[in-house]
Amino acid sequence: MKTSFPVSRSGRFLGAPGAEVARFTESISFDWRLWRQDILGSIAHATMLRKIAVLTRDEQMAIVKGLDDIGREIADGKFQWQPELEDIHMNIEAELTRRVPAGAKLHTARSRNDQVALDMRMWLRDEIFGLTQDIRSLQSALVRLGEQNARVLIPGYTHLQRAQPVYFAHHLLAYVEMLERDSERLKDSFKRVNVCPLGSGANAGSTLPLDRKLVARLLDFVDAKGRPQLTQNSMDAVSDRDFAIEFCCHAALLAVHLSRLAEDVILWASSEFNFIKIADAYTTGSSLMPQKKNPDIAELTRGKTGRVIGNLVSLLTLLKGLPMTYNRDLQEDKERLFDTTDTVRATARLMAAMLGNTAVNAAVCNAAASDPTLLATDLADYVVRKGVPFRQAHHIVGAVVTLAEKARKPLDRLTLEELQSVDKHFTADALKVFDLKQAMARRNITGAPGTKEVRRQLARWRKILRA
Ligand code: ARG
Repeated sequence: MKTSFPVSRSGRFLGAPGAEVARFTESISFDWRLWRQDILGSIAHATMLRKIAVLTRDEQMAIVKGLDDIGREIADGKFQWQPELEDIHMNIEAELTRRVPAGAKLHTARSRNDQVALDMRMWLRDEIFGLTQDIRSLQSALVRLGEQNARVLIPGYTHLQRAQPVYFAHHLLAYVEMLERDSERLKDSFKRVNVCPLGSGANAGSTLPLDRKLVARLLDFVDAKGRPQLTQNSMDAVSDRDFAIEFCCHAALLAVHLSRLAEDVILWASSEFNFIKIADAYTTGSSLMPQKKNPDIAELTRGKTGRVIGNLVSLLTLLKGLPMTYNRDLQEDKERLFDTTDTVRATARLMAAMLGNTAVNAAVCNAAASDPTLLATDLADYVVRKGVPFRQAHHIVGAVVTLAEKARKPLDRLTLEELQSVDKHFTADALKVFDLKQAMARRNITGAPGTKEVRRQLARWRKILRA
């Protein structure tokens, strides 16, 4: 009797597993997403098998045509997936073999263990590229919002307490910097993803004289100089998931950055801050309170960070006790990797769209930034310029702030006499410190939120992002 497992169960197994076992062990319900990579990998493998004379030219051509047909049917949604065939690799190979007898030769010197590692690496290469594009769009949205509100000031906060004035754009550019590091990490990790494992077999390579370099070249596993990149140890190649973990790690840090941005957006959109207004299309209402407009996209961005971090921890935990080499446990890697990729890419795109549809309440921001206590440090710097050690200047201005509080006056309304009652270093020009425009003009060292420096940074980013 023919079993329903024509590829791998032939021979040694008597019957098909029970339905529940099949459900427990299958991966086709999620690894179908690797179909394009699986087909490209098989075409390259067949091309190589032809070169080493395992396949005739006719056999190779029939296999390639069969794989192309299957690929088209999958793309058109017409392919019949067979859950009892377990995974993407067996689904495609079994159908190919049903149509093309030479398909039975395709798996020569290949195992699903090196095949799945290959497919995942190819899939991840595309996703890394896509994600860096998504990050770039988000950076552009941040820079654009900064440019549109180039004159808007807000308080910078430490401990969520008002600290010192900054341009709103300066705050946004902080995220552009974080995202740039995320991008760089992803680009750097690409070279460790871009290594071809095919030819490693189940765990011990092959006795056949495979041309691994040819396969690597056909599948674009090459470095900047066009040199093929091959895994160098068959056991490592089939059991390694470092590339997936590394990606999930970089993605988790990206998600943390997105979450922090989301938290700022949520605060800014609250009535208490009222710094921004998110367009209706990017907010949702309450089922009970008719007045509500909630920043759900930002909240879900913050919330989804949990699963992205969780996926990283899952993968690390999955690997930690595995002996060499392939173990079926590894099948659990894909959903975590797919989920991380889908989540961070969608989040980056939606945050970009939301920021592109957010208005800044310039008047509210500027009013908050005009709080003269934000310039207490500037007043200390004034005293420092008179030759007083900073520790002492800090103490003097602390006394000035207490005096203003007692007098129930804003800091900038104290008289020269009142200032001098605290310290004799204050002279007639002391109160000029509270001219906000001047104060912003003074902060012009690299990386500071000064008027010229923020303009320069916006222009710098505009140039980088246009490139
Ligand atoms: N479905 C498997 C996975 O995703 C493919 C490799 C299976 N190999 C095996 N010997 N059962 O990891």
